[in-house]
Amino acid sequence: MSFTVVEQCTPRLNRSELAVPGSNMKFLEKATQSPADVIFLDLEDAVAPPDKDQARKNVIAALNELEWGGRTLSVRINGLDTSYMYRDVVDVLEQAGDKLDLIMIPKVGTAADVYAVDMLVSQIEQAKGYRKRIGFELIIETALGMQNIHEIARASARNESLHFGVADYAASTRARTTGIGGPHPEYHVLTDPDEAGHRQRHWGDMWHYAISRLVVAARANGLRPLDGPFGNFSDADGFRAQAMRAAVLGCEGKWAIHPSQVELANGLFSPSEAEVTQARRILEAMEQAEKEGRGAVALDGRLIDIASIKQAQVMVKKAESIAAR
Ligand code: GLV
Ligand code: MG
Repeated sequence: MSFTVVEQCTPRLNRSELAVPGSNMKFLEKATQSPADVIFLDLEDAVAPPDKDQARKNVIAALNELEWGGRTLSVRINGLDTSYMYRDVVDVLEQAGDKLDLIMIPKVGTAADVYAVDMLVSQIEQAKGYRKRIGFELIIETALGMQNIHEIARASARNESLHFGVADYAASTRARTTGIGGPHPEYHVLTDPDEAGHRQRHWGDMWHYAISRLVVAARANGLRPLDGPFGNFSDADGFRAQAMRAAVLGCEGKWAIHPSQVELANGLFSPSEAEVTQARRILEAMEQAEKEGRGAVALDGRLIDIASIKQAQVMVKKAESIAAR
């Protein structure tokens, strides 16, 4: 183990993250009943420029007046290059900061972007005497943000999670797709011809590098990595496949841009009963091994050692926090 200790951010269940446009009061009301682990009230790209002021007012009213039942709440502010962002932070925090858990910062490009918002938030928290410290969710969705991701991840003690904003990322990197998330048929490999000359086409995952890089930057800094939106909300199987790829790589959860995607994400990012049972068995076997002064043992014909304990503990802890909800 390195001498450097990775401090873990505030722990939260974040299997699903529901996006709710701040311009739509009905959607905001409906979201109060959502089973999503985290709900973000959007002031950014789901809100058209003429509606920005009203959306901000709606979000403040929703935070203050609706009954959210202890749900984790976030607000996505506008980007630092807009004229809306300072007022998003000042108005929302001054008027409803004590109801909020997180601020989501879009299109983060450099560590200084995070620093700037941190400075503003710190002043408001101090001036208002808020006891609860607001955490940050950072969307990595530009080439610049991806280039600077490691500095961004450690830019503030408020940082809690990195999110892969696939749509803006595609635009920023000029990827040849107009979809939001999921694979592209042209991103494939061809097998060599078989004896009859037939070749198979295997689709690849064009987001593999970006998500892997984001997982590393997040985990190396004690943050949660999250996969962003999957635009085709009528395609549950496509959502499942994309979410599962992200989960296998280490992501902790995924956005839901439609309420129907929340339960899917909650299910996919929860360990199965079989996985939890196996993790408990590993912990028991290792406890026994420790008593006998052994560092590794065999369980069901497979080697388990001290590293297995950590993997099993992560799994069991996750199951316990899900059960506690
Ligand atoms: C999310 O904000 C995205 O651009 O995908
Ligand atoms: Mg975006």
